[in-house]
Amino acid sequence: MSLKSMSAATHIPVLLNEAIEALAVQPGGRYIDCTLGAGGHAAAILERSSPGGQLLGIDADPRAIKIATTRLEAYKYSTLLINENFVNLQAICLKYDFLPVHGILFDLGLSSLQLNNNNRGFSFQHDTPLDMRFSPSQEVTAADIINTFSENKLARLIKAYGEEGYSRQIAHHIIQERPIKTALHLARVIEQTIGSRRGKIHPATRTFQALRIAVNRELEHLEAALKQAINLLGFEGRLVVISYHSLEDRIVKQLMQQESRDCICLPNTPVCICGHTARLRLVNKKVITPATTEVQLNPRSRSAKLRAAERITTQEEYYQTTEMDTKAGGWRRPALLRKLRVTFSSLQSN
Ligand SMILES: C[S@@+](CC[C@H](N)C(=O)[O-])C[C@H]1O[C@@H](n2cnc3c(N)ncnc32)[C@H](O)[C@@H]1O
Repeated sequence: MSLKSMSAATHIPVLLNEAIEALAVQPGGRYIDCTLGAGGHAAAILERSSPGGQLLGIDADPRAIKIATTRLEAYKYSTLLINENFVNLQAICLKYDFLPVHGILFDLGLSSLQLNNNNRGFSFQHDTPLDMRFSPSQEVTAADIINTFSENKLARLIKAYGEEGYSRQIAHHIIQERPIKTALHLARVIEQTIGSRRGKIHPATRTFQALRIAVNRELEHLEAALKQAINLLGFEGRLVVISYHSLEDRIVKQLMQQESRDCICLPNTPVCICGHTARLRLVNKKVITPATTEVQLNPRSRSAKLRAAERITTQEEYYQTTEMDTKAGGWRRPALLRKLRVTFSSLQSN
């Protein structure tokens, strides 16, 4: 099988060794893969954490869960695979009593399996319905947005989430061409608006990115999930995030930087009034990107950026200083807190 056809049939995990290294995977550890996909990173985590390792895998796409279940069959007694959105991370962990953990991974965006699937509308190369939902249970599709938003609202969305300089022109042309039902039709409208060649990327790339982000509410879900992830880490637990565009990376970078500072008051504040204490330490000062050889083997990895941070406060210290914001309210329950302490101290001594 050629490399091209192989990557179409499977998903090649990006920055695999770097992610495992950054997670500091150890035998007997408990890990969460918030973006299970085809299970590539998960398989490596399970292999490295054996014997005794446990993995909670989450994916919004039921098809990803199915594929990963088959792939991780050999580890079925060490894995719990859940078809859910990672925005509910904390509630999932409380429900399945899976906390605190040694490491949490986010490998954002979509997998090659989703991109190449002929009825999802993620790729502008296929004449497929404009869907773009990670989960069929979500209500709003890309076609709904394209065919119902006002010109102004569409232009703002394409500008904000696609960082597209020609957002106004594209939105104007979309309105004239509506209804637009397929990915190929939308790609043609964009090509006709701004030309068919534009540096290395297809002219529709930015607009498709904007639609996918909006349909799946990717940025708000990411920010909410990262905050929950920090809460779920045990002492010295690692948070590792691989992102693929600047909007995602900015959220990851800002949150990790903020959580690794003792004071987050505005620069000119004479005396600290925020009372904030650092909960994280940055594992790498500089962002990690793929080596040239990885990009040559897997071009999809070219925009990947990996950031990692380590938790430097214990659950207990955090419990004493902070009111945790959770719908389940579990962290304030004394029984659960006692259980947490016991579980974590046994994890530490193993
Ligand atoms: C890049 S792929 C992960 C690939 C995986 N690391 C592997 O090695 O096979 C990203 C996955 O995250 C899932 N995903 C994206 N956003 C999600 C969310 N908010 N909640 C749950 N899953 C999400 C997608 O459905 C997709 O399967």
